[in-house]
Amino acid sequence: MKPINVGLLGIGTVGGGTFAVLQRNAEEITRRAGRPIRIVVVADKNMALARQVTGGACRVTEDAFSVVNDPEVDIVIELIGGYGVAKDLVMQAIANGKHVVTANKALLATNGNEIFKAAQDKGVMVAFEAAVAGGIPIVKAVREGLTANRIEWIAGIINGTTNFILSEMRDKGLAFDTVLKEAQRLGYAEADPTFDVEGVDAAHKITLLASLAFGIPVQFDKAYIEGISKLDSIDIRYAEQLGYRIKLLGITKRTEEGVELRVHPTLIPAKRLIANVEGPMNAVLVQGDAVGSTLYYGKGAGAEPTASSVIADLVDITRMHTADPENRVPHLAFQPDALVDLPILAIGEVISSYYLRLRVADKMGVLADITRILADEQISIDAVIQKEPGEGETQADLILLTHQTREKYINAAIVKIEALGVVVGKVTMLRMEELGK
Ligand code: HSE
Repeated sequence: MKPINVGLLGIGTVGGGTFAVLQRNAEEITRRAGRPIRIVVVADKNMALARQVTGGACRVTEDAFSVVNDPEVDIVIELIGGYGVAKDLVMQAIANGKHVVTANKALLATNGNEIFKAAQDKGVMVAFEAAVAGGIPIVKAVREGLTANRIEWIAGIINGTTNFILSEMRDKGLAFDTVLKEAQRLGYAEADPTFDVEGVDAAHKITLLASLAFGIPVQFDKAYIEGISKLDSIDIRYAEQLGYRIKLLGITKRTEEGVELRVHPTLIPAKRLIANVEGPMNAVLVQGDAVGSTLYYGKGAGAEPTASSVIADLVDITRMHTADPENRVPHLAFQPDALVDLPILAIGEVISSYYLRLRVADKMGVLADITRILADEQISIDAVIQKEPGEGETQADLILLTHQTREKYINAAIVKIEALGVVVGKVTMLRMEELGK
């Protein structure tokens, strides 16, 4: 059987994993794909590394453009990352009629509409299982396994770095900065952790999942993004006392008015399976009208877990590349001419329940003032806890959990609460999700 030829751009962690797994499992993969999948050329700026990893098994080059222009190459794997040269290479590969496999969520979340359109016009596939939740086959599940369903919402722990940090903060009662340094030392967090800790990486991934779930164009620029760098470990402790865990969730929901697309630290009931996903693991919960809830769990990063997804895409393309393009699975799950431009809701229009923490003077009538403000904004209280002031203190922490309301109403109430003379400093507000049906 004639092999299908692959050009690999970037031989870093995932590239190295892909090379190793393709070699190790070559026989099984060939039995599944119907023909051998062979990496014929690797491009990397670090030629010495490329030579070392490939061990002379294929050509190596410094020039990535020579790979996307190479007539021998059928499929290009893009593992460079970012939206600069990676975009030029992907567009050039498509223009040359090559199929593309990429783990680049940043590129697809920001430029996906243009890339998928170019691929559609050229009749090639752009596969991106590795871009969302690493080794978990969530793209496959949403795009193919759940096609019978009207998907209602997706909520996912889709960033391992932040989940590791939150787990450590909860376990050890440590502050964010301390745990971040530890995560960097252990190699869980990048030297520049901004994209992970500020929720940008999770927002790239939930943007792609929203498009797959609802058949909408990718709209990363409309996502609401809040990371964990401002999270105080006292809120993790109070949440735990109330029966909740705090997780950085990517959430997308279909509502009457449009689509919610948001990333933020979220209180979820500790009894939910997803609340117990700890360390750098990922998990995605999908609610479909027919199937109900389904939960997908696994490693969201790492050499071989991510390679597992890259190679699954290679096998899919190998099986499908001779098929009529109309008979292939659409990039965004829905036929390109059936995508709908549902509005993405501004965060003020989102409906959620809320956790509020206030520092208040321990005086008569304080609670009455606060509950009156909430009632005026039509916000119903679910639970209230007042912590006893510490020895010799005259102020106490007050924690309120609200029932569901629109975020703009909670914001209006917070402004009024902060203006009360008895409230010290700012109100801490966190969103809560039940994640039940
Ligand atoms: N940096 C990501 C994470 C993995 O921490 O989950 C790659 O998307």
